Amino acid sequence: MFFLYIVLVLILVIGLVWFVSPRLSPIPYYPTLEADMPQIITALDLKKGHCLYDLGAGDGKVIFRLARSGVKTVGIEFNPYLVLLMKIKKLFYSQKKQVSVYWQDLFKTDLKPATHIYLFVGPYLIDRIFQYILKNKGPKLQKIVSYRYRPNQHPGGVTELKNNLNHPIFIWSFKTKNAGL
Ligand SMILES: C[S@@+](CC[C@H](N)C(=O)[O-])C[C@H]1O[C@@H](n2cnc3c(N)ncnc32)[C@H](O)[C@@H]1O
Repeated sequence: MFFLYIVLVLILVIGLVWFVSPRLSPIPYYPTLEADMPQIITALDLKKGHCLYDLGAGDGKVIFRLARSGVKTVGIEFNPYLVLLMKIKKLFYSQKKQVSVYWQDLFKTDLKPATHIYLFVGPYLIDRIFQYILKNKGPKLQKIVSYRYRPNQHPGGVTELKNNLNHPIFIWSFKTKNAGL
């Protein structure tokens, strides 16, 4: 019993360190605001056959909201506690086949299948992440939607939404050969 207690305390302490350590969590976990979700959903404009990647998926708020028939969502998350939470959520989720969750560094993620990428990441990493996406995006990528932060260096053609929002939404659209997918 004492051993179990020690293990639980250790798990809690490691979890706490993971959440507060700038090295392990350079972008702290903070979910997309519920009030801004409708405009984010409209901005993403997901249709049957689309595949949305949330890079730094947190507790999966966005991927679970947007996975519906015909739309696949993929959550990439670094923090094992949040990955476990998403995996538990998935167990009770009706459209399980539509959602994939990976414990993975977003900078090591294969982005080729993504038609849409959602970002809610800190100001320190947004430029690096954007460069990674532009270098590794596949031919199907149609849209990047970034909540709150805009990189200093980006391909231009950005649309900014800010009316009735707590934080702005930035949208980049890309031309694809097979726009349906
Ligand atoms: C501001 S939260 C956004 C959560 C979620 N996307 C949302 O909008 O509700 C950013 C998340 O990115 C994760 N993260 C930070 N660096 C990462 C990395 N290199 N690879 C994967 N996830 C990362 C953090 O653990 C955190 O959960």
